[in-house]
Amino acid sequence: MKAMLLVLAVAGSFAAGAVHAQSGADVVKAKGCLGCHDVAVKKVGPAYKDIAAKYKSDKGAQATLSAKLKEGKGHPVKFAGSDAELKAALEYVLSSK
Ligand code: HEC
Repeated sequence: MKAMLLVLAVAGSFAAGAVHAQSGADVVKAKGCLGCHDVAVKKVGPAYKDIAAKYKSDKGAQATLSAKLKEGKGHPVKFAGSDAELKAALEYVLSSK
């Protein structure tokens, strides 16, 4: 019985860890980015694949976009979330095809 409880506790903490380490795809969904953006189609904002193409050869893209989204400069909304979430979201955007 004790062993069973231990197994459950360990399984539980793994599940919690998985929720914490969100993928970029989950972040853009959870933060409402997809209300204005789509991976392939221009909506209110440009398609993520077009953003990826625009920044393809820009090594500083992650930093530039991170600053824009954090300060809400050159972007209609400010990113409300952790740095890790923003990083994951931008990696997702910049790898869109
Ligand atoms: C209210 C609508 C709206 C929401 C919500 C929104 N965006 Fe945007 N986004 C835009 C518009 C409009 C632009 C184009 C801005 C411009 O180039 O002037 C844009 C541009 C961008 C760009 C490209 C900026 C550039 O320099 O080319 C990125 C990256 C981006 N958005 C990411 C995100 C992420 C990540 C989220 C979610 C946290 C998000 N957006 C939520 C409207 C939105």
